[in-house]
Amino acid sequence: MGPGPSDVNPRVLEAMSRPTIGHLDPMFVDMMDQLKSLIQYAFQTDNELTIPVSAPGSAGMETCFVNLVEPGDKVIVCQNGVFGARMRENVERCGAEPIVVDDAWGAAVDPQKVEDALKNNPAAKVLAFVHAETSTGAQSDAATLANLARDYDCLTIVDTVTSLGGTPVLVDEWGLDAVYAGTQKCLSCTPGLSPVSFSQRAVAAVKERKTRVRSWFLDLNLVMGYWGKHTKRAYHHTAPINALYGLHEALVVLQEEGLKNVWARHVANHMALRAGLEAMGLELLVRERHRLPQLNAVMIPDGVDGAVVRSRLLDEFGLEIGAGLGHLASKVWRIGLMGYSSNPGNVLYCLSALEAVLGSMGVPLERGAAAAAAEGRFNRN
Ligand SMILES: Cc1ncc(COP(=O)(O)O)c(C=O)c1O
Repeated sequence: MGPGPSDVNPRVLEAMSRPTIGHLDPMFVDMMDQLKSLIQYAFQTDNELTIPVSAPGSAGMETCFVNLVEPGDKVIVCQNGVFGARMRENVERCGAEPIVVDDAWGAAVDPQKVEDALKNNPAAKVLAFVHAETSTGAQSDAATLANLARDYDCLTIVDTVTSLGGTPVLVDEWGLDAVYAGTQKCLSCTPGLSPVSFSQRAVAAVKERKTRVRSWFLDLNLVMGYWGKHTKRAYHHTAPINALYGLHEALVVLQEEGLKNVWARHVANHMALRAGLEAMGLELLVRERHRLPQLNAVMIPDGVDGAVVRSRLLDEFGLEIGAGLGHLASKVWRIGLMGYSSNPGNVLYCLSALEAVLGSMGVPLERGAAAAAAEGRFNRN
């Protein structure tokens, strides 16, 4: 129950154990087509360029930046946590100029500040932001930010690593241009792949580049030789066959449950966890309307050593929760309720274990109140 990887669905592990076939085997090539349309479903897009990059979320991030950003470009980067800062570094490494819009860690990206940056930088080519900041548990309003970007003729690069499969990501409806995700969070697949999707506007921008993409491996012009038209596929790199079986199965599971049900399940479990945490007197970092249901940043009570609590949960209860990152390191715990891990059993187990550990450390709390509050909340659904 940390910030990812989440528990992997046993169906996914079973799929990954099937025999490895060739990456141009006709059966595999058929599966690639299914995989592309399953990713389109997850992202709610008809974008043709929708594929899994053969490497983790960070490679999805780099795919977007190295293909869309050229030396000398101006890119507006929103920074409200760890991953926005990584985006900025990507911009710099592409030889481009980052224009940073800062918001507090735990806050959502402020659309007013973004609009000001767009107004002040009419030459900006891209607006980049993290939809779901895993380091804080804050969700930004991707639809509003993408609208602003379009008004100022800017492309968007959007990090949906933690949002995809946990909270709505409506790529076409919101008009997002280049999005990337990860497999190890709400998709409950193993880590190591990054679904990406590029709009037609983004594909056009890649084609209109004046300079060659600096990365050979992530150059979409080359990658699409393998993932593009069914009849013409050719070797680019040896695809991670078994990992792709796993992603295929994870997305079949997602489709079977249906996105709306998946989103509602994440909210229901979050609300119950939150009721239990509040019954223990604990507070969440993020303001209610920006909270992610799948990532709960909980303020560590004064006088409690958060690291000791985490290691006792792991040693005594076999339960992993995450530490804070950066300057939130000793201030918050991060409790994930992602994908397969987002279930009532985990909510109740986590609350009871946390209550037992905090109680034994002398934190004043009413034993049993947390689970009762969570159950009460489940019963209201
Ligand atoms: C929001 C966000 N972006 C990017 C990444 C990087 O993904 P990966 O660790 O799979 O490379 C993560 C990983 O936790 C993340 O949470």
